[in-house]
Amino acid sequence: MEFFIFFFIPCILLLMDFTLRRHWMRKFPLPPGPLGFPIIGNLLIMNQLTHRGLAKLAEKYGGLLYLRLGYLNAFAVSSPEVAKQVLQVQDQAFSNRPAGKAIRYLTYQRADMAFAHYGPFWRQMRKLCVMRLFSRRRSESWESVRDKVDSTVRFLANRKNTEISAPVNVGELVFNLTTNIIFRAAFGSTSNSDQSKFISILQEFSKLFGAFNIGDFFPFLGWMDLQGMNQRLEKARGSLDQFIDSVIDDHIRNPKPNDAVNNDMVDDMIAFLDTEDAAVAGTSYKNDSQSSFKITKNNMKAIIMDVMFGGTETVASAIEWAMAELLKSPEDMKKVQQELCDVIGLDRKVDESDLEKLPFFKCCMKETLRLHPPIPLLLHETAQDCEVAGYSIPARSRIMVNVWAIGRDKSAWKDADTYHPARFESSEVDFRGGFYEFIPFGSGRRSCPGMQLGLYGLEMTVAQLLHCFTWQLPDGMKPSELEMGDVFGLTAPLAVRLKAIPTPRLNCSIIS
Ligand code: HEM
Repeated sequence: MEFFIFFFIPCILLLMDFTLRRHWMRKFPLPPGPLGFPIIGNLLIMNQLTHRGLAKLAEKYGGLLYLRLGYLNAFAVSSPEVAKQVLQVQDQAFSNRPAGKAIRYLTYQRADMAFAHYGPFWRQMRKLCVMRLFSRRRSESWESVRDKVDSTVRFLANRKNTEISAPVNVGELVFNLTTNIIFRAAFGSTSNSDQSKFISILQEFSKLFGAFNIGDFFPFLGWMDLQGMNQRLEKARGSLDQFIDSVIDDHIRNPKPNDAVNNDMVDDMIAFLDTEDAAVAGTSYKNDSQSSFKITKNNMKAIIMDVMFGGTETVASAIEWAMAELLKSPEDMKKVQQELCDVIGLDRKVDESDLEKLPFFKCCMKETLRLHPPIPLLLHETAQDCEVAGYSIPARSRIMVNVWAIGRDKSAWKDADTYHPARFESSEVDFRGGFYEFIPFGSGRRSCPGMQLGLYGLEMTVAQLLHCFTWQLPDGMKPSELEMGDVFGLTAPLAVRLKAIPTPRLNCSIIS
């Protein structure tokens, strides 16, 4: 009996799968790719499926390559032309998201926006995020950027005499900064102990999102939970439930008017909360939204996790890379600081309205996002069988758009691997999704809905750090000795945290 379950059934399923695949393959060829083994396909090279590993494979197999990962078909897109096909020309067919068991469970079965499949539910969630939560009209989020950047600058300026020549861990500093910004934008002001509790929940989620789960590649093995993942998943989601339920209940008990200027994201979402789901002992909650669109507490929790994952590491890694590249390129550092001095003067800090008057600074931000897109691989899934560049891509395939490789495509960029911000001075190319050689925020339907807020966090922080301080590498390190390797995860931050010494450079006090 056991032999039947563990061996015979999987073999029959694989044979059926193989036969169907071959039948389907006869219509169009699959793109080229590395040869795989029977049954497991290319699973043994899973560790090469990073932005760098896939870029190497693309040098050999081209801009569209095929990998079979157990039961799963995967395709890597590494050229601007194929990216345009996938994200624009045929975007509806490519607008679903792949999600393994862990992601499905931790997002309450895709109750969020980032992992919801393309369709009416996703459209409503997207509208809620774009029009309400991430909108420029939600002044509280922009206010939290200003406040938290200001306190970071004050913290640096306030260092005691004994610490002044000691290096600052810029990576840690900016990760804390962006977490503080998003935490306040989402929950309003909550205590520090709450924040550290929430960060440990996020860290466990992050580990579970990235964990290898055999059932994702051989679905018929999924029910066995061979790696004992179920218990970890239940515990992680249980902690999130406990944390956010109490935040939501607190907000329901202390309602603010709909148009209050200090409304946080939880306040904004509560207006759409289903009345039954909002029942909290001792309150008489009444939904005051005019909209027929209603959400549940699970939707709220899942969206909050989208915001936390989408808005913290992305912005933090971009800030750290921007600082690292400028420290490695003293000429560009000099030029950008001179521009800040010419436009703003040395008697005050940077204001939001200054950002538009700093063309070279903007070029530096673009060049950072070109070389170090915070999300190096876009993950999409096909909703139907498609044909791209003469090759076939079956329905439910995993698509990895290698934004990192595309930003360094030698046919699109001169000296593609070199940091050279001035290349954007006489160029129309921008990152809003219309130029497929430069798509750090994605393009099309699934592109980043938080771009404006993310850019504001990035630009305000880097401008303020560069304007208020001069920066020096520690221990007499030469710019050329700076370690510029990255690590691959949800984002691709510097492998070795950037450390540098800030010295105040303004004539006015920046402590007040
Ligand atoms: C420098 C900052 C940021 C960068 C570079 C960035 C980049 C991206 C990229 C590349 C995608 C995927 C696009 C695709 O799959 O085609 C994405 C999606 C997303 N981003 Fe951002 N992002 C940033 C900041 C933010 C912020 C601040 C938020 C929220 C406050 C946010 C929320 C999201 C969400 C919710 C999605 C999923 C959208 C969907 O699936 O429909 N991002 N972002």
